[in-house]
Amino acid sequence: MRIGVLTGGGDVPGLNAAIRAVARRGFVYGYEMRAVKNGWGGLVEGNIVPLTRSMVSGILHVGGTILGASRVNPFRDKAVVRVCLENFHEFGLDAIVAIGGEDTLGVATRFYEEHQMPVVGVPKTMDNDVIGTDYCIGFDTAVTTVTDALDKLHTTASAHHRAIVVEVMGRHAGWVAIIGGLAGGADYIFTPEVEGSLKDVCEHLKSRWRQGSTFSIIVVSEGAKIREIEYSEEELGDKDEFGHVRLDRRGLGETVAREIERRTGFESRCVVLGHLQRGGSPTVFDRVLATRLGVYAIELVKEGKFGYMAALQGNKVVPFPLKEATSGIKTVDVELYELAQTFF
Ligand code: F6P
Repeated sequence: MRIGVLTGGGDVPGLNAAIRAVARRGFVYGYEMRAVKNGWGGLVEGNIVPLTRSMVSGILHVGGTILGASRVNPFRDKAVVRVCLENFHEFGLDAIVAIGGEDTLGVATRFYEEHQMPVVGVPKTMDNDVIGTDYCIGFDTAVTTVTDALDKLHTTASAHHRAIVVEVMGRHAGWVAIIGGLAGGADYIFTPEVEGSLKDVCEHLKSRWRQGSTFSIIVVSEGAKIREIEYSEEELGDKDEFGHVRLDRRGLGETVAREIERRTGFESRCVVLGHLQRGGSPTVFDRVLATRLGVYAIELVKEGKFGYMAALQGNKVVPFPLKEATSGIKTVDVELYELAQTFF
């Protein structure tokens, strides 16, 4: 058996741990492993090379991905899909393990459903929004970074009696904002799931000040919905091959900080955590999750259980249909947001 491995979408710490796990388990079964470079782009371009044991040695703790990543979507064009199918056969692949989030796994689903390509998935995204798995690789490391940042920002906010707005990633789901905010003691959180308003946050901050709290930390998910703030298509610029706009262009955190200062008179600052959330060494949780999911993906290949992804449910790794996993987005339950509100 010759198995290709690819990592698509935004990188996260833990990808290398997953690649290592896939490869090492593959070697146990005597499979030949292939590195499909730069996500689905590697299949489009035929950028596929042997993945050797030495290539996956010493990478468990290293962020990024030795395979490279991209947001290439072969389904943007039928001719490109055809090239991918040809390359799959030309390079003698018997299966592909696709490690990615909704977009990368969405492509895997379509190759499997529409072209019977033998694929299995491994869910990774710091957004943690893939259906069917409790956790995606990269999320734990990202929220650990957010929590660390909030701890540090508390002391400077307190020293200067300021409101500090912290913008975090999270396109459609507020997992990073809510879990990071809970762990880091945020005084207010804006997320994509629950529409917030500048009026509410300002009233809340004023009431905190009246009660003696002369500083506040406000976490804003980059994809948050805020009643008084709207962006035109033009302001957001070009879309990527999956139809996503670049949310960092919204500058939502900066707008919120400016509005808080204007409406309340409290001195405010904004910190955008950005790609720091996707850097560094994976946490213990992400290393172990990536290792378990990667090993399980090869078990799925061995059993010929294609069209599934390895998923964590409770403490068990189970098969989960890719079609269902990519049928929508796993957003945060309102109950969890309400729990976080207890501490506002
Ligand atoms: O898709 C994951 C994600 O981290 C989003 O939260 C964020 O909007 C996006 O990637 C940013 O991606 P890029 O690397 O293209 O700036």
